[in-house]
Amino acid sequence: MNKIAVLTSGGDAPGMNAAIRAVVRMGIGQGWQVYGVRHGYSGLIAGDMDRMTARDVSGIMQLGGTVLGSARCPEFKTEEGRWRALRELRQADIEALVVIGGNGSQAGAYDLARMGYPVVGVASTIDNDLAGTDITIGVHTALDIALEAIDRLKTTASSHERAFLVEVMGRKCGYLALMAGIAGGAEAVVIPESEVLPETIAEEIHAAYLRGKSHAIVVVAEGASYNAEAIAQHYEQNQAQLGFEVRVTKLGHVQRGGVPDAYDRLLGSSLGAGAVEALARGEQGCLVGMVGGEVTTVPYEQVIGVSKPLPTRFVKLANILAR
Ligand code: ADP
Ligand code: F6P
Repeated sequence: MNKIAVLTSGGDAPGMNAAIRAVVRMGIGQGWQVYGVRHGYSGLIAGDMDRMTARDVSGIMQLGGTVLGSARCPEFKTEEGRWRALRELRQADIEALVVIGGNGSQAGAYDLARMGYPVVGVASTIDNDLAGTDITIGVHTALDIALEAIDRLKTTASSHERAFLVEVMGRKCGYLALMAGIAGGAEAVVIPESEVLPETIAEEIHAAYLRGKSHAIVVVAEGASYNAEAIAQHYEQNQAQLGFEVRVTKLGHVQRGGVPDAYDRLLGSSLGAGAVEALARGEQGCLVGMVGGEVTTVPYEQVIGVSKPLPTRFVKLANILAR
């Protein structure tokens, strides 16, 4: 192997830069040339890539986002788009590709692998919805951001005796909401994996009021059938019955921004290095993730299209601890 390339794709995640840095420096350590592709699969299709040196990745570890840029690229979902990407890789004599990204990005990487091209994925998304790994790059930092917001909301909620519906990201996965709910001491959590009706949430808010609480926090996953706005609309006519006045806070992209925490820097470094080690061992068509505290490679067949259940221990805890 002489030349590899690395790209970041899909929603950016804090810690992606640590992964890029690790791929570049580990790759150079193997005696390979490492190319950085700009803006994910869009850049790949356009052949927008340059050789990276160890110095090019100096000082990026502590930066949020991705220095390579990221993109959603509908064209890559077409066979024509993927053939164009493959042509660019072959023209530049690049022999393998490391894809740092989430569910969709890894589905794209799997498609490339099935076209016969050597690809290794690095699990990276704040959603933690990727099978084949316990945790993905960015989740810890996103959780910390959600928690800081919840802690802040609690003080103003208490002052005004209000209930806050705090909506967090996660796409169709309730992991961020569940964990933020437990760690933030929420009165209720609304997740797509176990849907509840607004009436049930209303009962929980009212029960918190009757127990003498000065506020109620409900963490709502964006992917739930009733998101925070929809639940609030449901209460518009009968807020008085809840005891608390209701406010909605949607955290949105704030959760993806900012400085990666120590865990995500270490995870990014470990998984990025793991991707190069996998390629050096001759492995390909697999995702590099963290399973049971070990950097592990899992074949794409066991990752793509496979759903990842929420940890049942935490689902139970969320119900018990909200009392
Ligand atoms: P993430 O990787 O964060 O889950 P997306 O789902 O938006 O983000 O996927 C990122 C990109 O990966 C898409 O814009 C597209 O280029 C590519 N992609 C997603 N799904 C597929 C698929 N099923 N087949 C091929 N490429 C895909
Ligand atoms: O996949 C990461 C994520 O932040 C999801 O939680 C969210 O639904 C989505 O990306 C938002 O996408 P965009 O940045 O394109 O608005």
